[in-house]
Amino acid sequence: MYNPRIKSLTDTLFDLYYPEHIQRLSRRHWSPVVIAEKAAAFLAEGQGNRILDIGSGVGKFCIAGAQLFPDVQFYGVEQRETLYNFAVAARDSIGLKNVHFIHDNFTHIDLDAYDNFYFYNSFFENIDEQDRIDHEIAYSASLYTYYTRYLYSALDKRPRGTRLVTFHSLEDEVPPSYRMVHRSDDLVLKMWIRQ
Ligand SMILES: C[S@@+](CC[C@H](N)C(=O)[O-])C[C@H]1O[C@@H](n2cnc3c(N)ncnc32)[C@H](O)[C@@H]1O
Repeated sequence: MYNPRIKSLTDTLFDLYYPEHIQRLSRRHWSPVVIAEKAAAFLAEGQGNRILDIGSGVGKFCIAGAQLFPDVQFYGVEQRETLYNFAVAARDSIGLKNVHFIHDNFTHIDLDAYDNFYFYNSFFENIDEQDRIDHEIAYSASLYTYYTRYLYSALDKRPRGTRLVTFHSLEDEVPPSYRMVHRSDDLVLKMWIRQ
């Protein structure tokens, strides 16, 4: 079973695609490979074949998923340019053609262009003062609320059958129109379908 305190050998090997300071952030900020693979399997079974990671960091979810599902297109949107650059470099050194990274705030892209969504508690950094990724961006509780409401509203407008996976989420962004169809024993990984 997944234990957040222990980094698996798979993650240690995966993290070699990144420089050391990015590897050090891995256990807390990037999806473990086993979680990314489970999430990708659920999302890949949904309608359509475009999966978006909202806040894609250095691209672990997209890259791990894309390796398993070459016919599915994985997209990641990331606000930090440095992380976006590391994601692109990792993708290119592996040579994956079905991963696409976007450097932007997720509120600036058309969420209707995607079919299913992955969300690793990306907005929590605004209300958690511990272990921040960096100090390059402004954090605030009002940003947490703004982003959360924005995503809630966008997800609510999605068609029936839209799939969502949340990891370590407070669920503030999950509208009641989504039914939880699976959760991990430790309750951190949840899979949802729009009704
Ligand atoms: C917990 S990390 C998860 C990274 C990746 N999804 C993964 O699973 O490995 C959350 C990421 O979301 C990004 N993020 C937070 N708010 C964002 C926003 N409004 N638009 C785009 N990216 C955002 C952060 O910069 C951070 O890299």
